Amino acid sequence: MPLKKNHKTGKLISFEGSEGSGKSTQIALLAAHIQKSGLDVVSTREPGGTEIGEQVRNIIVHNSKGDEMCAETELLLFAAARAQLVREVIAPALMRGAIVLSDRFLDSSTVYQGIGRSLGAGPVNEINRFAVGNVMPDITIVIDVPTEVSLARLKQRASDLPDRMERENIDFYNKVRDGYLVLAKSMSDRFVVVDGTKSQDAIAKEIWNAVSARLK
Ligand code: TMP
Repeated sequence: MPLKKNHKTGKLISFEGSEGSGKSTQIALLAAHIQKSGLDVVSTREPGGTEIGEQVRNIIVHNSKGDEMCAETELLLFAAARAQLVREVIAPALMRGAIVLSDRFLDSSTVYQGIGRSLGAGPVNEINRFAVGNVMPDITIVIDVPTEVSLARLKQRASDLPDRMERENIDFYNKVRDGYLVLAKSMSDRFVVVDGTKSQDAIAKEIWNAVSARLK
């Protein structure tokens, strides 16, 4: 489905970072803050956020044949979930002027599949572009934590078994972390990097300051 050219009156804010970086907590805090200001806010996540996308998520992270999934398939599945989310949830919300907070967006594919899985920037950018059409984040918050911290937090999570992505090794996660930092440097207009080892309140404050300054 082509996206209308003038769909954008709202704002899209994506959150990125490694596993255990604290994205979901910060999204909930920011959503509450924005809501208090009387604005329309929509929170969503990738992969997922739609019925079709949640089914795709299940294939990617919980499929019993997951270990046999090749990197190309993984990239296309993430893109499929994203294409659905953009057309079903994000674009309509932006059209009515909402602020959309997305737990991950296209930069996750750039970093996890492009760099982590070594598929390269060329194919990943092309597929990302096809999936999102003209819907790009206005602001991207990267919550940066050292890989050791990220892995220690993963271990502490209540859920019993790590999913397919969480079973990756430290080298993979180091590549992901470095990938985000390099990406953020190359697009400093869009990206804001916050230190995810600070207290929840301090991080929330930093994010709110960055967002409110950029949304003015
Ligand atoms: P989550 O744990 O933050 O919900 O994300 C699910 C996993 O999927 C996480 O390991 C990151 C990964 N992922 C990618 O590899 N590429 C993508 O494009 C997206 C959106 C997520």
